[in-house]
Amino acid sequence: LFSGRVEFLLSAPQLKHLPDPDYPEIAFAGRSNVGKSSLINALVQRKAIARTSVTPGRTQELNFFEVGDPTQFRLVDMPGYGFAKAPLKVVDNWRKLVRTFLRGRVPLKRTMVLVDSRHGLKDTDREMMTMLDEAAVGYRIVLTKADKVKASELEAVRSKVEEEVRKHPAAYPQMHVTSSEKGMGLEELRAAILSDIRE
Ligand code: GTP
Ligand code: MG
Repeated sequence: LFSGRVEFLLSAPQLKHLPDPDYPEIAFAGRSNVGKSSLINALVQRKAIARTSVTPGRTQELNFFEVGDPTQFRLVDMPGYGFAKAPLKVVDNWRKLVRTFLRGRVPLKRTMVLVDSRHGLKDTDREMMTMLDEAAVGYRIVLTKADKVKASELEAVRSKVEEEVRKHPAAYPQMHVTSSEKGMGLEELRAAILSDIRE
């Protein structure tokens, strides 16, 4: 499935632009620059179907991608959070868009919460997890950019994050470790996504 048809569907800057809720959806959330768009590209084996950037805050809308022929599910690239230089109005818009989407989106099967392997959980990630707990949307924690840290460092961050994630009711206890650059953990994550959309 992941190596077959993948198509950009639309970009929704506001809730009124959302596509009809016709297919199961998997959303990708996380701080700006954590690697959401890169992970989507790596999962579907495309170089740039989702736009990536070295500048944080690249993705400001909900971007929908369709996978499968005929369509089997959608991947949703969410705008990043925690961008220090974001104007207040942008942050407000983000919160409203994301919160309402998470609370009311019937076909949303799972959210992937991406966390940088170098940094672990930040307060904005905690806010995101609480938002998901409250919306009762199940989520998986995905450590990104694992190629950037030493194995020992990765283990330390991983166990610290795991301990905290266990206290969140809607979070999966076991995490995924990935590198979009090196292709690490992708096959396992694809399998998890396929099982999530069938739930
Ligand atoms: P926003 O859209 O701003 O929220 O960012 P994003 O989370 O979509 O991040 P994006 O995928 O644009 O990646 C940000 C930067 O991190 C880019 O320069 C990527 O090349 C880099 N990057 C992403 N994934 C990896 C990875 O696995 N390893 C390494 N080394 N770099 C990565
Ligand atoms: Mg992005």
